[in-house]
Formats: sequence, C-alpha cells, structure tokens
Amino acid sequence: MDFFKEGKVKFFAEDKQLKKAEVFFNPKRKFDRDLNVLLVSSLMPENSSGLELFSGSGVRGLRLCIETGKFSVFSFNDIKSSGIVEKNLEANRGKLLKIDKKVTGFDAASFEAGKKYDYIDIDPFGSPVFYLNSALKLLKKNGILAVSATDTAALMGSAQKACMRKYGSVSLKTAYSNELGIRILIKKVMEEAAAHSIKLLPLLFNFEGNFLRVYFKSISSNGKEKIGYAYQCSKCPSRQIKEEIKCSYCGSNVHRIGKLWLGPLYSKKHVIKMLSALNENNPDFAADSVLKLSDYLTRLSKELDVFSYYTTSQISSFLKQPELSMSGFKDKTVLSPKGFRIKESFSDFLNNNLK
Ligand SMILES: C[S@@+](CC[C@H](N)C(=O)[O-])C[C@H]1O[C@@H](n2cnc3c(N)ncnc32)[C@H](O)[C@@H]1O
Ligand SMILES: [Zn+2]
Repeated sequence: MDFFKEGKVKFFAEDKQLKKAEVFFNPKRKFDRDLNVLLVSSLMPENSSGLELFSGSGVRGLRLCIETGKFSVFSFNDIKSSGIVEKNLEANRGKLLKIDKKVTGFDAASFEAGKKYDYIDIDPFGSPVFYLNSALKLLKKNGILAVSATDTAALMGSAQKACMRKYGSVSLKTAYSNELGIRILIKKVMEEAAAHSIKLLPLLFNFEGNFLRVYFKSISSNGKEKIGYAYQCSKCPSRQIKEEIKCSYCGSNVHRIGKLWLGPLYSKKHVIKMLSALNENNPDFAADSVLKLSDYLTRLSKELDVFSYYTTSQISSFLKQPELSMSGFKDKTVLSPKGFRIKESFSDFLNNNLK
C-alpha cells in the first residue's frame, strides 16, 4: 500500500489499475477528477447530499467533499475496499468535520438507502448499465448523476453483440466511434431514467481512451427526447441522421446506427458557468489543473451542436490526397485532434471547400 496526494486529499491506495489490486486507484484519471470537482463546485448548491457507489480508495468522493464544500452528507460505497475508505476518511478527518459521512460495502446493483441524494456517482469497471436502476431510484429532483463506462469495445463498435445486449443499440467502428459511444451511453441512461419518470439533461462528457464519463442533471421539462438513428455510408465518409437507404453522396448502402442520443452532447450554459468559476479560482486548483480544465472547457464551449465529426485523415484517405491541415477548419472537436464538425452535408462540404 502506498500513500498519495491528489488535489487537497491524502490517501492510501495501490498504484495499480488492475482489477486484482486490493484498492483501485488510477492516477491517470486526475484530470477527470479535477473536472468532477469543478462541476460539483460550480453547479451544485450548498448542503447537498452525495453518494459514490464505487469509491475505490475514496479519492474522488473525498476530493468532492473537501474541495467543493458543497456536501453536508456523503455516503461512500465499495464492495471490496470500504475498509480502506474508512482509513482514508480518518487520514483527512480534520477537513471533513462538518460532513455527515457513511461508508458501506454493498453490491451497487442492489444498493438501497432510506433517503435520496442530490449527487450520485457510478464509476465501475466496465459497463454502468447494471447499476443505473439503483442510482436512479435514489436520485433527487434537480440532482446530478455521473456515469462512467470503460466497456468501450461495446460502446465504440468493436463488440457489436455486447453493445446490443447491454445498451440495446447498434454501434459501428468509424472515425468518430467515441462520439457514438457517448451518444449510445446517454441514450441508455435516459431510457432507464424515463422508466423512473426522470428526465435528464446531459451536462458534460469526458473521453479518455478507454474511459467515457457523462454528467446529467435531473430536470422537470417534458420536451421530446431526441433519440433516433444515424446512417453511415459503407463506402465513403458521408453520414446523416435523416433516414436514407442509399448514401446521398455516392449511392452506396448505408449502415444504420442506434438508437442513440441526437441532442446536444453538453449544456453550453453549464459549461460556461464552470468556466467562470474556474476563472474566479473557485475551487482553488493548482496552476497546471487550471490550464488543462480551461483549455478543455473553452474548446468544448465552442463546439458546433451537430451529429458527429469528420477527421482530416479520413477525408484525405477517401480523396487519396495528402493529409489536410486542421488549420483550415474552425469548428474543431475535443473528441479528436484531427476532428472537425460541419453544418452542411458531406457533398456540400466537398463542393464548397475542396474543389
Ligand atoms: C473504477 S474503480 C472506482 C474508482 C474511484 N471512483 C476513483 O475515482 O478512483 C471501481 C471500484 O468498484 C468496486 N466494485 C466493483 N464491483 C462492485 C459492485 N458490484 N458494487 C460496488 N462496488 C464494486 C471495486 O472494488 C473498485 O474499487
Ligand atoms: Zn457514400
């Protein structure tokens, strides 16, 4: 067991990202936890209650408690490492005096509590789908739900059967599969929420290789869900969300992807709130964290709200031309260094830009 420091928290854990490690801790997810701290700190009211269903070492929940100051009640749960969470709470005792804390070791799939929470966190190994019911049952109105997934093979089109089994959707391996994964995950969480009469607004996402995380806010609006299909050409980069049997650019057959979420991937209003809080040094992050958070959120806040991005490499290889330069495109995406979004169809884009 080693002793670590991250943000304003010190804790015992093992620096191993293996399932067999006694206490899971992945130092590579620091940016994700920074983002989590900023989101809670800038979007949640004081005296909130929180529940972390997969605490691992407890680092995430502890940082949320200590660095945001938003919680008066916080429950930590982990089927395997509740003992170490207790120990880590003790190591930070002085900073937690005002919080009513609880540590349990239940299976998150059957987690029950006598009360509901303003913030619930699902951060499992693999797919979150088995735990959505427990979490949604306990989510308060206007509450925030955070959902991670590491089953990216299923979500991003490499394991299609697994995707259908767990998410009830068809995914596809494409140049923009990470976006498909996020949209399928959002769709699944929204469907489950609807079964609990909860309507969710996607607030923010984070993609890091084999890790996806989406934040939702429970809202009361009853507008129509933007859930449906997308159609990707089997031969060229063209795709669209209007139903088509043959590609409108080259006439080839298309793959139908979905169902998936077709609405905005994040809430601009909330991301801008997060950016202003960051600019006011609230919460107080180290300079390197501020830079990374500010860069990510600034880029995100400028993204076009359209379905899927194209990449320069995909288009160049389709046109058999040398790789295009990203500098020619203003609507970039945080999802790929070579990715950009366009408002027009693929054929209009080619006609307008590359001839
Ligand atoms: C990815 S880690 C959590 C990491 C932590 N949230 C963080 O940010 O460092 C997943 C944790 O889930 C726990 N776990 C696995 N299956 C579980 C289940 N069914 N119920 C509750 N905890 C579970 C594991 O012991 C492990 O600590
Ligand atoms: Zn085509």
